[in-house]
Order: sequence, then C-alpha cells, then structure tokens
Amino acid sequence: MNQLAMRLMGVLGMSLGRSQGTRWERALVTGASAGIGREMAAQLAAAGVDLVLVARNGDRLDELAAELRAGRAGLGVEVLAADLSDPSGLMAVERRVAADEAPIDLLVNNAGLGYEGPFHTQAPAQISETIDVNVQALVRLTHVALKTMTSRDRGQVVLVSSMASLQGLPMTAVYAATKAFITSLGEALHEEHKGTGVAVTTVMPGLTRTEFHERGRWNLDNWPSVGWQSADAVAAEALRAAARSRPEVVTGRHNKLLAIFSSKAPRGVRRSIIGRVARRGQNLDR
Ligand SMILES: NC(=O)c1ccc[n+]([C@@H]2O[C@H](COP(=O)([O-])OP(=O)(O)OC[C@H]3O[C@@H](n4cnc5c(N)ncnc54)[C@H](OP(=O)(O)O)[C@@H]3O)[C@@H](O)[C@H]2O)c1
Repeated sequence: MNQLAMRLMGVLGMSLGRSQGTRWERALVTGASAGIGREMAAQLAAAGVDLVLVARNGDRLDELAAELRAGRAGLGVEVLAADLSDPSGLMAVERRVAADEAPIDLLVNNAGLGYEGPFHTQAPAQISETIDVNVQALVRLTHVALKTMTSRDRGQVVLVSSMASLQGLPMTAVYAATKAFITSLGEALHEEHKGTGVAVTTVMPGLTRTEFHERGRWNLDNWPSVGWQSADAVAAEALRAAARSRPEVVTGRHNKLLAIFSSKAPRGVRRSIIGRVARRGQNLDR
C-alpha cells in the first residue's frame, strides 16, 4: 500500500466495512496473490476485516498472510490455494463461501485474466480459461454467496469487471465479452437485492499497473501512457464504493470521462474509433 492509499484508508476509517449499517467481519478475496486483489486484501486487513485469501499461488498467499498478520494483531487470515478454472478448486472455494463457521460477509470476485490477440489465433485452452475464471467461477461463487447471505439477510458481493465491459473490444474480444457479462450480471443482482441487508457492487477499473497485461501477453507499445491507475488507488475506490453499497463504480477520473463518452456516443461511432485504435495497435491498419 502506498502513501496515498494509506491516507485514503485513514479518511475511510471506520466507514470502510460498513454496509447498510453492518460491519464486514470476514472477506473472501479471489485473486489475492497479486495486483488489485492483493491491494484490496491489504486495505481490508488494515481496516480490521478478517480474510480468506484465494489464488493458485499458495506461496505468495502464505507470504501475504504472514505480512498482514504481522501488521495487525489478532487479524484472522486463512489461505485457500485453489485454481478457479478447475472444478475441484472451484468447489473448494464454494464450500468455504457457504460455510456457517467463520462466515464470509464480503465476497470479492476479483480473479480474472484476458489474452490479447485476434480471436481466431487464440488457443482454445486460453479461451476456455478466460471464460472459466471470469464467468463460470464468478457466477458460481456469487450464487452460493448470495444464497447464504440472503438467508442471513446480511452480506455483500463485489464483482470486479472492467471498462472493457462497456463495448466490444477487438483484439481482446473474449475478455471484453466476459466483462460485459459481469457488468450486466452485477446490475441485475444489485436491483434484485435492493432494500435488503445484501448488496452487490460492480467495479470497472481501466488500465491498472499490475501483472495482468504481462500474463495475457498484451502488447502495450501503442497503448496510451496516460490514465493508468495504481492497484492500490483502484482497490481504495472499489472498497469505498462497496462500503456505500453503490451499484457500480468506474475508477479514476480519466475512466469516468471515457465512460460518459461511451454512454453518450452513438454505437457506430464508438465501434469505428475502437476498431481503428485496436487495428493500429496490432499494426493491422487497413
Ligand atoms: N490491470 C488492469 O488494467 C485491469 C483493468 C480492468 C479490470 N481488471 C480486472 O481486475 C482483476 C484483477 O486483475 P489484476 O490487474 O490485479 O491482475 P493480476 O495482477 O494478473 O492478478 C490476477 C489475480 O488473479 C489470480 N488468478 C488468475 N487466474 C486464476 C485462477 N485460475 N484461479 C485462481 N486465481 C487466479 C492470480 O493469482 P494466481 O496466479 O496466483 O492464481 C492473481 O492473484 C481482474 O478481474 C481483471 O480483469 C484489470
């Protein structure tokens, strides 16, 4: 966590973790080993929220857990190493979300990935992995969480979507489509639970400095150098919106402006601009 995030945490103070009058006691964060998820876990820990950390890399989770426990006496941190693209890994996390003992009252569906490149050149395994983690796992965990939370009339689910959900994105078509699914799901579920003790918040970050682009082999040479956010700034905005039970948040001023443009511009104009930018990025201009 950098200085800015620490200050934001101070400002948020006791309000972080208060959802409709109740304080989060224990959060399960997927994709907690790196990037935005790691920062959300660190900020929740700083606010005294116990944690269940989920990702594939158990060593990184163990290290983070030790760091968080050392930073806050009495903090409960569990590590659950699981591959969300694997049915048995997903079932293990579902079981933890549904457990009555040490109940989860905040589920942060953050784990996600996306490969860059023309759709027809992508390996089927990469396409399946993207859909399995971004859609299948997210839906299943959200389902079990909302079922359990509704029976207690208490809890919150955060869905990490993306600015990429706002329109089809050539060269990252599958990724953008999975994120459009998430934004649509989040909007509907927020309304389904309105006025209850359960809330759903969708987070739409834009370009954020994490391991994401390297993992997905994105070529960033032709991407804009402005408008990038740090993972801790995104995490702080996301948690602040969740604490207020907001239906959705686009993080960062730059992204908020782009989102307004996206909502106002005719679909054909948007498509043409995005298509041109994407083709130029891949040196496919024609
Ligand atoms: N970075 C951006 O520019 C950006 C922009 C908009 C939205 N987002 C969204 O933000 C979320 C977090 O991304 P990030 O930027 O923080 O990426 P990141 O640094 O690559 O972190 C991704 C996290 O997801 C976990 N993960 C990936 N595949 C998994 C699997 N099969 N099972 C379990 N965990 C898995 C990774 O852990 P392990 O490798 O240890 O499993 C890691 O903790 C994603 O949903 C992404 O789509 C990112």
